[in-house]
Amino acid sequence: MAMPGRSLLDLDDFTASEIAYILERARAFHDDPPPRDLLRDVCVVNLFFEASTRTYTSFAIAETRVGADVVALPPGSSSLGKGETIADTAITLAAMGVRVIVTRHPESGFPYRLAESFDGHVINAGDGRHAHPTQALLDLLTLQTEFGKIAGLRVALVGDILHSRVARSNILGLRALGAEVTLVGPYTLLPDAMAREGVRVERDLDAILPHVDAVMLLRIQKERIASAVLPSLDDYARNYRLDAQRLNLLARDAIVMHPGPYNRGVELTEDVFAFPGWRYAQQVSHGVFVRMAVLDFLVNGARAAVGARG
Ligand code: NCD
Repeated sequence: MAMPGRSLLDLDDFTASEIAYILERARAFHDDPPPRDLLRDVCVVNLFFEASTRTYTSFAIAETRVGADVVALPPGSSSLGKGETIADTAITLAAMGVRVIVTRHPESGFPYRLAESFDGHVINAGDGRHAHPTQALLDLLTLQTEFGKIAGLRVALVGDILHSRVARSNILGLRALGAEVTLVGPYTLLPDAMAREGVRVERDLDAILPHVDAVMLLRIQKERIASAVLPSLDDYARNYRLDAQRLNLLARDAIVMHPGPYNRGVELTEDVFAFPGWRYAQQVSHGVFVRMAVLDFLVNGARAAVGARG
């Protein structure tokens, strides 16, 4: 069953069972590459208005692997800069037969406005500090691959939660699938108000580390931070940087994740790269498969049986 116009703007667009389905499908694609015609004759436009290495490349590879026709529209060449409205851009692309727009934009909410006027599917590849749903999906797949489940896992998100779209989407996904979330950071980057059911706010990283299954480090978002909020990176590093000493506090089977790009010396020291539970490369690798699964799900709908073609 196809789903006309369904989009992925944040993870709350999907139910818990849809998220589980996407993860299962991504796992199947990982184990057994699908034929390259899942999105045959489907035109996908990548509309990125913000720097991206991982996410852009990962989407481009995923789109190719499912056989879509892929067009990249570099920001400088879009007519949005000439005063064209978002709605007009959406109408124009739809008139050319574009079925999927993958977009990243520094403004929170941009993909939502695009989706309002676009007769097709919009995938949010990161909007301002708001949401990054496919990053959260690849993080969930990494956790599930490691532990065989998400429900009941204790996951700590550490650092600049306030400015992090990765954190926001991960909180939605982790809660939907029943993980226990602990947010850890200083008051200025993590307001108490971010606590809610199943989501605790803590300040003392050293006290938390022995009690978690996974640590998700977040990049200090220098480009979004006023200097008054974070007067000193040294001070941050002293309290929150994951280094050899802090790695020793972790449980034996715990894993460490980071969405990248990471700032060496700020969120982590190079000791982390030698830690057996460091899962950055797996996260990046999983990104391609979850994006393939999302594209297939939005355009073709759910399959009756996972792995079956229809
Ligand atoms: C993140 C992003 O751009 O939101 N990176 C990514 O997509 N893997 C995280 C970040 O910029 O810190």
